[in-house]
Amino acid sequence: MKRIISPSLLAANFGNLQTDCEMINASEAAWLHIDVMDGTFVPNISFGFPVLEAVKKHCTKMLDVHLMIVNPEKYVERFAAAGAGMITFHQEATPHPLEVIEQIRKTGAKVGISINPDVDVQVLEPYVDKVDMVLLMTVFAGYGGQKFIPESYDRIAQLCDIIRRKNANCMVQVDGGVNVANAQSLFDAGVNVLVAGSAVFGAENPKEMIHQLLNA
Ligand code: DX5
Ligand code: ZN
Repeated sequence: MKRIISPSLLAANFGNLQTDCEMINASEAAWLHIDVMDGTFVPNISFGFPVLEAVKKHCTKMLDVHLMIVNPEKYVERFAAAGAGMITFHQEATPHPLEVIEQIRKTGAKVGISINPDVDVQVLEPYVDKVDMVLLMTVFAGYGGQKFIPESYDRIAQLCDIIRRKNANCMVQVDGGVNVANAQSLFDAGVNVLVAGSAVFGAENPKEMIHQLLNA
């Protein structure tokens, strides 16, 4: 499967998002990762529809929206209308993941499901053949700039096993603490999509960093 880099907007310069969108457009990043936090599912609050709509105007890459919110079913259609090309929700955030998957499908957006590092990977078993992507958090959702949790490698292996067993072909995304030091081993472990916030936007040359991550 093709490698994808999805830089996380959370680490961008909010005073000038247009410039950062233009950098992404000119880069080898295929997607732009958009972290939506509600202050309830996670302690932090990030941004919502108006920011997503503004980014959609300037960014030519697919908007990979990561919902860290409770009751995702309340907002799926609005995120799709605001420009999301992929909508990823957390399994922990809803009692009805299958319904949310169907609901996202109906909007035409691609479907992702995610879990935090303390959730058993086995809970994903019923969903891997129904989604386009599984997002394994490699830090606890809520903040950028955290340290990668090394136990994540076992979790990636477990997930790849489930995907193989079920003959599914969903992508595997990881998010949190990704950088040039671990990018290669993550791809080798079976990850297809790397999210990187501080590694990209904190780099002296973000475009070059995206290139390095992709070719790690
Ligand atoms: C964390 C977010 C991440 C975050 C990653 O809750 O889901 O997407 O932006 O940031 P880094 O790459 O700095 O760990
Ligand atoms: Zn994220």
